[in-house]
Amino acid sequence: MSHDDAVGTHVIAIDGPAGTGKSTVSRILADRVGARFLDTGAMYRAATLAVLNAGVALDDTDAIGAVVTKADIGLDVLAGGSTTRLDGVDVSAEIRTDAVTDAVSAVSAVPSVRTKLVAVQRRAAQGSFVVVEGRDIGTVVFPDADLKVFLTATPEARAARRHQQNVAAGRPSGLGDVLAGVNRRDHLDSTRAVSPLRPADDAVIVDTSDLTRDQVVETLGALVRDRIGVQS
Ligand code: DC
Repeated sequence: MSHDDAVGTHVIAIDGPAGTGKSTVSRILADRVGARFLDTGAMYRAATLAVLNAGVALDDTDAIGAVVTKADIGLDVLAGGSTTRLDGVDVSAEIRTDAVTDAVSAVSAVPSVRTKLVAVQRRAAQGSFVVVEGRDIGTVVFPDADLKVFLTATPEARAARRHQQNVAAGRPSGLGDVLAGVNRRDHLDSTRAVSPLRPADDAVIVDTSDLTRDQVVETLGALVRDRIGVQS
């Protein structure tokens, strides 16, 4: 019997801004509770890569919509990680470049882009036990999720984490620039007209500024035990 059969269909929605440790803790949590993991930010990044590859201007919303509607964006969830594909090609590394990071807020604000990717995300999660990580999962994609968590942290704490990740990965990075980027993306993501970043009314808000990664995972694991009854 697979884990999905054992626990049925459950969705754990984890939303919040960049740099709260969301991706890392969502991945670990999914692993611990035996759920699949869906990184929806990777999908918006793949859509953005398609737009950049097509040479479309970032203020041309019609052209952006046309490119993304045609693009085949897929996420293979495997033990130990996931692979993001664009038109059949593995773009998992390419979607993490600065060029994509700088353009992703503009692309993800386009309504037709969101309509397409929300449908892909709902299909991908269908019938399984899944941890879905993003910005609008509890508010728009899965408003009936079994558990909704909204992770927050101060902009300074989030910028410091991003900067450390860049340094560890050998990417050029300056803390001041990273903080400016965090603030810019926060503003764009939370003020956009469609699906702005905000906690669902019934989300549990967890401030990760002063928590270690393991403490956040423990907190979420306890919530999963309470709400879904699955041990982590
Ligand atoms: O989590 P991330 O940094 O990989 O996300 C990249 C961008 O995608 C982020 O700036 C906002 C956008 N995004 C979104 O609009 N909706 C989601 N569900 C996930 C990400």
